Amino acid sequence: MLTKLKAQPADKILALMAMYREDPRPTKIDLGVGVYKNAEGVTPVMRAVKEAERRLVEEQTTKAYVALAGDPAYSDAMIGLVLGETVARDRIAAVATPGGTGAVRQAFELIKNTSPDATVWVSNPTWPNHVSILNYLGMNHTAYRYFDGETRGVDFDGMMEDLSEAKAGDVVLLHGCCHNPTGANLNLTQWQAVVDLLNEKGLVPMIDIAYQGFGDGLEEDAAATRLVASSVPELLIAGSCSKNFGVYRERTGILMAISEQADNTAVTQGNLNHLNRQNYSFPPDHGARVVTTILTDDALRADWAAELEETRLGMLSLREGLASELQRLSGSDRFGFLAQHRGMFSQLGTTPDMVERLRAEHGIYMVSDSRLNIAGLNAHTVPILAKAIVETGI
Ligand code: LMR
Repeated sequence: MLTKLKAQPADKILALMAMYREDPRPTKIDLGVGVYKNAEGVTPVMRAVKEAERRLVEEQTTKAYVALAGDPAYSDAMIGLVLGETVARDRIAAVATPGGTGAVRQAFELIKNTSPDATVWVSNPTWPNHVSILNYLGMNHTAYRYFDGETRGVDFDGMMEDLSEAKAGDVVLLHGCCHNPTGANLNLTQWQAVVDLLNEKGLVPMIDIAYQGFGDGLEEDAAATRLVASSVPELLIAGSCSKNFGVYRERTGILMAISEQADNTAVTQGNLNHLNRQNYSFPPDHGARVVTTILTDDALRADWAAELEETRLGMLSLREGLASELQRLSGSDRFGFLAQHRGMFSQLGTTPDMVERLRAEHGIYMVSDSRLNIAGLNAHTVPILAKAIVETGI
């Protein structure tokens, strides 16, 4: 049996992680996988996470199963964080999932089960694993224009034109904030126009929100998701705590499904529970419990929000530093978009050949689509990167 297996294509982000690890050059710089690193190049355990874990170790009395949906207190806390008071709680079904990827996977399976003929519309480009999972599940999908290679902003007219081709019941996958991989985001006026189109055409939105707090602030980054949630009949939300709580390896995510009427919520909840049961039974609990502990304790929550805000401001200043160093070295404003983008990533908009030259000649690792992880930089590496970009002729 096993001899019949075919080799699988490597995930480009994970393949890059492996190449970086094997590179012996001491000056190498990792701007690949989306992991935050502080000025010392360390991905720290956040203070509030350490404290919540300490409390859990002391106070937890059992490791018995929790529930198929995870701890209801986790769902409540995450719904509060993402949606605030926007949607009546009795319209929302939710399950804990293994990371944001688990939520994306479960959402796609839900769509496949209930609307097998629907096409899932994804931005061009999007996080490569979106497309990979859709292919794996054999689902219909197509791309809508999103990134404008000239301006490095959103090609909003192209996006709207493409989405106007979607048929009723199709699903539109949107990034709630901090678009991955481009860093280019819609403004709220544009989000409103998208909402109007969704409603006019009877399209179902799905929002992937994995970077809340990394862009313009915790509340600001939730604003688009809340706008959509308050304006459409149905919505799927895949949320992740990997980045904003720094609990990457704990696999802490959530899938929310908002029904038009509260009397549909019990069946929706049952379907989410069923999906969990089929795929892995009970979702992981440790990260979810840490997050719940933080979000439900005023002091811990304030400390977490403060540390997250420091992280966000640090990334913004790296963006500004890189844009201004590039401006100085290149004598042009063509890299100004780096300071406008938000979140962990920016897409430089150059060719895979140029990206490969940065790796081969300078030991700088970024994804072949020219996505760079801003949070992988620090004050020391910003000028090194800027010099390499200009020397390479990007
Ligand atoms: C990324 O985009 O780098 C992260 O979301 C990590 C991953 O799983 O790809």
